[in-house]
Amino acid sequence: MRVVILGSGTGSNAEAILQAQRDGALAAAEVVQIIADKPDAGILAHGETFGVPAQYLDPAPFKTKLEGVGEDLYIDTITALRADLIVLAGFMRVIKPKFIRTFAGKIINLHPSLLPSFPGLDGIGQAWRRGVKVSGCTVHYVTAEVDGGPIIDQATVRIAPDDTLVTFAEKMHAAEHELLPAVIARLSERY
Ligand code: GAR
Repeated sequence: MRVVILGSGTGSNAEAILQAQRDGALAAAEVVQIIADKPDAGILAHGETFGVPAQYLDPAPFKTKLEGVGEDLYIDTITALRADLIVLAGFMRVIKPKFIRTFAGKIINLHPSLLPSFPGLDGIGQAWRRGVKVSGCTVHYVTAEVDGGPIIDQATVRIAPDDTLVTFAEKMHAAEHELLPAVIARLSERY
């Protein structure tokens, strides 16, 4: 199963996926490309570390969504890569219907909350400010409804009385780094 990872930031989840691949824990999944919508995104460096091609793709003309010329560029590039699974790992841009139709059922997203609670931006901060005692992360299929597609799996994170936003965020990222590679491995076994 050919996997393409899309991200915008530091790429710690891409790193966890690539480490799982190196450890033989990704089953039949193979990461073939990393794509970032920011030229200086840290995620690109993980490709080099793990020997996986990584590239910046210009998402213009929009700032917060992938539509128009940029969307076509992403569609053409990912189609040429013959991707079986597209993993949004911190890709901070709304995916629009044309992209979703082109890769129907093949796009998954990682979100830092127990959806349907706290969709949208800053899922960790939203849960923290609301004072919940249990949060977690979700991997779901991407549909036209932002953070609303069918849930594939979730992992819980308990917020202890002595947690700070920083320690809570660390626990959340650790949970994500377990969950996302495990989901990819499972999907590849069914593929
Ligand atoms: C992760 O916490 C992921 O859940 C979140 O961005 C972070 C990316 O971290 N995604 C979203 O908020 C999507 N709405 P990373 O760049 O270190 O993998």
